Amino acid sequence: MRSLIERGARRLRRAGVFFGHGTDNARDESAALVLHALNLPHGGERTIGARRVGSRGMRLADELIARRIEERIPAVYLTGETWFAGLAFHVDRRVLIPRSPIAELIERRFAPWVDPGRVRRILDVGTGSGCIAIACAKALPRSRVDAADISPEALEVAAINVRRHRVGRRVRLIRSDHFSALAGERYDIIVANPPYVGRREMSGLPPEYRHEPQLALAAGRDGLDCVRVILREAGRHLTPGGLLVVEVGNTEAAVRRAYGRLPFIWLEFERGGGGVFLLTAEQIRR
Ligand SMILES: C[S@@+](CC[C@H](N)C(=O)[O-])C[C@H]1O[C@@H](n2cnc3c(N)ncnc32)[C@H](O)[C@@H]1O
Repeated sequence: MRSLIERGARRLRRAGVFFGHGTDNARDESAALVLHALNLPHGGERTIGARRVGSRGMRLADELIARRIEERIPAVYLTGETWFAGLAFHVDRRVLIPRSPIAELIERRFAPWVDPGRVRRILDVGTGSGCIAIACAKALPRSRVDAADISPEALEVAAINVRRHRVGRRVRLIRSDHFSALAGERYDIIVANPPYVGRREMSGLPPEYRHEPQLALAAGRDGLDCVRVILREAGRHLTPGGLLVVEVGNTEAAVRRAYGRLPFIWLEFERGGGGVFLLTAEQIRR
C-alpha cells in the first residue's frame, strides 16, 4: 500500500494541484485518498501500510486520485470527512472545508483569555459544518452553544455533525443572517470564521476553491462585508468581560486600516495560520 500512496503523491505533485483544504502536502493527501478508496480507516497507513493491495483496490485508488487531479476537487470532498480540533466531521460541498486556526484556541479552551469554568454561552457566527460550535461544546462541557448560519444547506450538514457528536442538547442550530435571529441574546464568547475574500482575490483563487460554497468565501468588494457587521453588532450580544474572536485571514491589513481605533490582539498559532483577532466586549463598545 505504501508504494500506491507514494505513486499517488507523485501524480499529485506532477499535476500541480493546490493543497490547503485539510492537508498541506501531496503525501498526506494521497494517503487520505488511497485509504478512502480501499475503505480503510484514516491513519490506517501506519498499521497496515505494508499490506498488499489487489488489482481492484489499485484501480479504485488510481481513479480517485485521477478525479482529484482532473476535476480539482479538494480531497476532503472526495472522502467526505475531515478532522478539526481532534474531532472527525462529515463534510460535503454544502459547507466550507474546516481549516481554521481557531481550532488551536478551542483546544486550549480559550486560555489565557477566559476562565473556562465561567463560560456558559457561546455563539458561532457562520457555523458551516458546525466544526467550531461542536468543538467548543466538547472543549467546554458546561457551555451551551448557538451555531448560526444563513445557509440552510450548511445547517443540514451541521445537523449531521451535531448528531454524530451527540451534542444536540447543548448545540442549537439557528438560521440567521449574522445576528438577525438572535435579538436579546448574550454570550460569554462569540467566535466567527466569516467569509472574508474580496472580489479581486476571489477571481484569482486556485480551482479547488470553486467547489466550495461561494457564500462561505465571498464578502463583497474588499472582503470586509461580514466583518463590518460583526464588529458593529457583536458588542450588544456579549456579556460584560465577554470575548469576540474572529478570523479575517489575509484581510488582516485591511481590518487594521479600517478600524485603527480598536485595540485588536492578533493571535499566533503553533500549527500555523493567522489573521485571527480578539477583542473584549468593553473594547468593542468603547
Ligand atoms: C468561512 S465559512 C466558515 C464555516 C465554519 N465556521 C468553519 O470554520 O469551517 C463562513 C460561513 O458563514 C456563512 N455565512 C455567510 N454569510 C452569512 C451571514 N450573512 N450570516 C450568517 N452566516 C453567514 C456561510 O454560509 C459559511 O457557512
